[in-house]
Amino acid sequence: MKALVLAGGLGSRLRPFSHSMPKQLIPIANRPVLVHVMADLRDLGVTQVGLVVGDRGDEIVAALGDGTGLGVELTYIRQHAPLGLAHCITIARDFLGDDDFVMYLGDNMLTDGVADIARQFRADRPAAQVVVHKVPDPRAFGVAEIDENGRVVRLVEKPAEPRSDLAMTGVYFFTPAVHEAVAAIEPSARGELEITDALQWMVSNGAEVRARIYSGFWKDTGRIEDVLDCNRELLDRLAPSVRGTVDGASEVTGPVVIEEGARVVRSRLTGPVIIGAGTVVEDSHVGPHTSIGRDCVLTAAEVEYSIMLDGATVRRVGGVRGSVIGRDATVTSAVRTRCSRLVVGDHSSVEVAA
Ligand code: TTP
Repeated sequence: MKALVLAGGLGSRLRPFSHSMPKQLIPIANRPVLVHVMADLRDLGVTQVGLVVGDRGDEIVAALGDGTGLGVELTYIRQHAPLGLAHCITIARDFLGDDDFVMYLGDNMLTDGVADIARQFRADRPAAQVVVHKVPDPRAFGVAEIDENGRVVRLVEKPAEPRSDLAMTGVYFFTPAVHEAVAAIEPSARGELEITDALQWMVSNGAEVRARIYSGFWKDTGRIEDVLDCNRELLDRLAPSVRGTVDGASEVTGPVVIEEGARVVRSRLTGPVIIGAGTVVEDSHVGPHTSIGRDCVLTAAEVEYSIMLDGATVRRVGGVRGSVIGRDATVTSAVRTRCSRLVVGDHSSVEVAA
């Protein structure tokens, strides 16, 4: 089985970060979402991965290279415009050949893995298999209606009156039967070749489409709140390790990772927390549920339930909560002061008035 990972798209819901980086590289527990996705694929025993990229493809190539470091073999497939999830299958045709494949949206995190679901697909080989998750309010999702045997009878995109609580996650398994379906459908009203339409075409033409329920943690990291939620979930599973230094005047409670070259001075860390390599934390309080990237500076800062990307600085500002501070961005104040939620894009500078 091969994999097709989709990392093009606009990422408009993740602005301002998606102005300056592909959203699939946003760090969750200090590793880009795509790195988590590749680890998940490796756990399925899949190593040949086609990676669909858009305008920001070069940054993804720079981050992941040929995949060797991640235990996968990457083939990049350029999509000139975000013309839909099913469009990605059409442009990947040469890469996919006549193999079965798992299609994985590059901004999705299924943190408990889908190895069992992949095993079921390999054993039964239905024409397609969608991975669904029970949600309290399915109206914002593609929804699968299934019969008593788990066979999909209908798929509806964002139904006003859902007849099932099974939302489609961003993971799909296909046999080559999908190629006929994507060739048969037309672009939707929003001009995209929709995967829901391709799946519905398969159902309507008598192909076997199955739904398998995933009951672990699932997030589409398309919005800031989801990124923070996902970060919290991963930090709750943090395996502590200290390779940097913590001075005697600092206090550490709960699980923390302090990467090499990081220094913690006269500060309090309340885990779960990750302090990235080369970061300096002085006279500050960090955590819980906070990840700080590489080469950041925190001086007289209080940061909790937040993410700081590489090279970010917070000086003399407390009360920072539920925040994401972009690469090389600075948040400072002339005198010690407090603020609350901040969403600061890469390379921005914010001066907080006392
Ligand atoms: P979406 O989150 O549905 O779309 P988007 O990235 O354009 O985001 P937004 O709605 O915030 O503007 O896409 C899901 C995943 O699929 C994501 O990783 C981007 C990728 N994708 C492609 O690679 N090509 C496409 O044509 C589309 C629509 C999405």
